[in-house]
Amino acid sequence: MITHIVGNRPQFIKLAPLYHELAKAGCGQSIIHSGQHYDENMSDVFFEELGIPAPDVNLCAGGGSHAQMTARIMVSLEERLTAHKPELVVLYGDTNTTLAGAVVAAKLCIPIAHVEAGPRVHKRENPEECNRIVTDHLSDILFCPDAISLQNLEREGLGQAAYMTGDIMYDTYLTIADSVQESFSAEEVVVMTWHRQENTCSRARMESILNLVERLGERVICPMHPRTRKCLAEYGLLERAEGIPNFEITEPVGYTEMVRLMNRARLILTDSGGLSKESSFAGAKCLFMLEMDMWEDLVKDKWMHKFDPEREESVAEALQFARQAKRVPPADRPRHYGDGHAAAKMVEKLRERGLI
Ligand code: UD1
Ligand code: UDP
Repeated sequence: MITHIVGNRPQFIKLAPLYHELAKAGCGQSIIHSGQHYDENMSDVFFEELGIPAPDVNLCAGGGSHAQMTARIMVSLEERLTAHKPELVVLYGDTNTTLAGAVVAAKLCIPIAHVEAGPRVHKRENPEECNRIVTDHLSDILFCPDAISLQNLEREGLGQAAYMTGDIMYDTYLTIADSVQESFSAEEVVVMTWHRQENTCSRARMESILNLVERLGERVICPMHPRTRKCLAEYGLLERAEGIPNFEITEPVGYTEMVRLMNRARLILTDSGGLSKESSFAGAKCLFMLEMDMWEDLVKDKWMHKFDPEREESVAEALQFARQAKRVPPADRPRHYGDGHAAAKMVEKLRERGLI
């Protein structure tokens, strides 16, 4: 039995292609949901849209501080994995769910496969960086989304276990994009997502991001993460945000709707690790609201521009980048993240290593 451990929106999106590929290969699988994301539009909608069976168990361990959440997930996970000891655990990305899964599975001597291994932002104050480093070092097989991630792992002495399979999110994107018309005639918009701890942890930071949206002065559609809405409300900024005439705040959307939005975006304004990379699949330039090492190939291509919303000079450059951004046709988009067959390559490598 292979057990997938997931709990967050991007993990459901990463799980879908691998689940389907392993099913094709005849592998028995189960899904443990940590409960880190729990709203219908942050969780269930992805299982339904992407054809993933409902989780075998939901640990309902979401909410609270990093330590509280990670500890709750670990305790429940240990019970579950001890009772149903799988032959392999699959972990995704870099969240607290990933970290909890890595520590528990490693101590129970269950082999671990890590999907989206190797990215490094080289900043310990980024909470996901801790999760990535620990998970990569405890895993038995590592699947990298790009060449830079593979180099990072080689530098850390993990090259023996690492493979460049390409980004599994590209598999998912292509599956959905196939069924969603890409229209160059639809009205072009700026699509925004915003949720990182670094961008929601202070009033000044949130206010500077709202100022930027206002200065953009064109329609910005923002399916808003519940964390961001809660933080805006706590800082007394929600009314200000809702009052910005060009700012269209919506509830979080399912993946099909997200692909529709990306595919008519002229620009993606985001702090999301996933969406910043997806911008290159969808042909929209990306303005990234954090200054840290991320998807450096896209930065070199001048596809992605990173900025600090709190520094006027940096904001001025960002606005200039935004004004010049145009939709890019498929043939001219960067291709750093594989060929859309990452899941098939993962299954092949798992087989070669005798893990399935
Ligand atoms: C988490 C991950 C982050 C990932 C993101 C994907 C960690 C440390 N962070 O951040 O790496 O990029 O998921 O979206 O694991 N909330 C709801 N409903 C939900 C989910 C969250 O209301 O369904 C609210 C709760 O108030 C919760 C807060 O959002 O406390 C933050 O959720 P949490 O999962 O801790 O962090 P994310 O910002 O979602
Ligand atoms: N996404 C979505 N609906 C939304 C916002 C984002 O389907 O309302 C998708 C997005 O296209 C990407 C993934 O969710 O595939 C990214 O998740 P998120 O930004 O929450 O996490 P991160 O990638 O930063 O870890």
